[in-house]
Amino acid sequence: MISLALIGFGNRAGKYASCLDGRARISVIVEPSAERRLYAVSKIGIPPECCFCRFEDFVSSGIHVDAVIIASPDRTHYDYACRCLRHGWPVLLEKPMATDAAQCVDLARLSAETGVGITVCHELRYHPYFIKLKELAGDPALGRPLTVDWTIDVGLNRMMHSFVRGMWGREKDSAPIAATKLCHDVDLLLWMLPGEPSEWHLAGERKFFRAENAPEGAAARCLDCPLEKGCKFSAVDLYLRRREWISNFIPLPGESVDEMLHRILRESDFGRCVFFSDNDVNDTQTIEMVYPDGLRAVIRMDCIRRDGERKAHLVFENGEIDAGGSTITLRRKDSAPETYDFSGIIGSPLHAGADKKMVHEFLDSVTSGKTTRTDLSSALKSHLICIS
Ligand SMILES: NC(=O)c1ccc[n+]([C@@H]2O[C@H](COP(=O)([O-])OP(=O)(O)OC[C@H]3O[C@@H](n4cnc5c(N)ncnc54)[C@H](O)[C@@H]3O)[C@@H](O)[C@H]2O)c1
Repeated sequence: MISLALIGFGNRAGKYASCLDGRARISVIVEPSAERRLYAVSKIGIPPECCFCRFEDFVSSGIHVDAVIIASPDRTHYDYACRCLRHGWPVLLEKPMATDAAQCVDLARLSAETGVGITVCHELRYHPYFIKLKELAGDPALGRPLTVDWTIDVGLNRMMHSFVRGMWGREKDSAPIAATKLCHDVDLLLWMLPGEPSEWHLAGERKFFRAENAPEGAAARCLDCPLEKGCKFSAVDLYLRRREWISNFIPLPGESVDEMLHRILRESDFGRCVFFSDNDVNDTQTIEMVYPDGLRAVIRMDCIRRDGERKAHLVFENGEIDAGGSTITLRRKDSAPETYDFSGIIGSPLHAGADKKMVHEFLDSVTSGKTTRTDLSSALKSHLICIS
């Protein structure tokens, strides 16, 4: 059985741990938070002596692993991935693969030089919806793609939790939102469209989540705010009343869930007013890609709508595709529209099983040495576009 080390035991790592299906075991956790190491012991039954605060301590423990999953914060990816490659350990690496372009290129170089593979977590390439979209877009009868309009609604709750109050709200802690969020969208387009863009333009700003947009009288923390009831950005409403986005919060020993949520709202960034957080990442973002044959693909990110979703309109010489919500509709010239309905699976866990397919393909590659669908070399261009 394949032995794995997990670097960073948070939300993503927990999901990957649930995808192993007896094909691999987690032999090591590297996680600086004592709380999260304890959580790993209780959640996946790993012995405490196999949980390390520092990567160096894991290496000097001499515990054997065959491969590593890196699901730690963005700014740690490059350094951990380089170290794993030098040890000869294939890596399943969370996106973004690194936070600057030179590091991305360097990782590709080191992977080629060592002959050790890196699979980048672009799980949407394993999602049945996007697999169908790629298949339809690749139909030669449609002719050349001429324009692509692609929108990504981050969803208000995700935006507030992750990109305003949370770890991806400040570029110094992560990277620009083009890299931390839109890299999936650029990756999908590069994967499904023929050729490669020769030019790209990024434009964006932090327009909305700024102090000057706070309503008169708003307090720095939602718990203290006289305007909290009825505020659609309220952290009290999101976490305490609706109990959404709380799965990654861990209670202290003896603490009830209510006590934990009050502590988090009182003490952490998750309790701050969205207009008075230290966020600096863009809340509107556009990426335009121009292909040598004239194809223009434009990605627009929005963040204020409550529900997150992707929508796309692709125009070809001989037809059009509309994708949005849970359906894809193909309109060929001179024939009735064909609609494909994914409503039965679209919101199902683990990205409709895509996470699991990606992990399994990674595990296969550890044994066979074959490259995976989302091998680093296939994800390099999208990262260079997003990080430029
Ligand atoms: N592929 C996707 O769709 C997807 C979705 C969400 C997040 N991500 C990426 O996955 C990674 C993890 O995100 P998450 O949502 O699980 O975050 P998280 O905060 O839930 O987990 C990160 C974990 O890493 C730990 N950590 C912090 N510093 C560390 C260090 N120096 N070394 C090792 N571990 C460290 C944290 O304590 C935490 O337990 C990020 O890079 C993020 O961008 C990818």
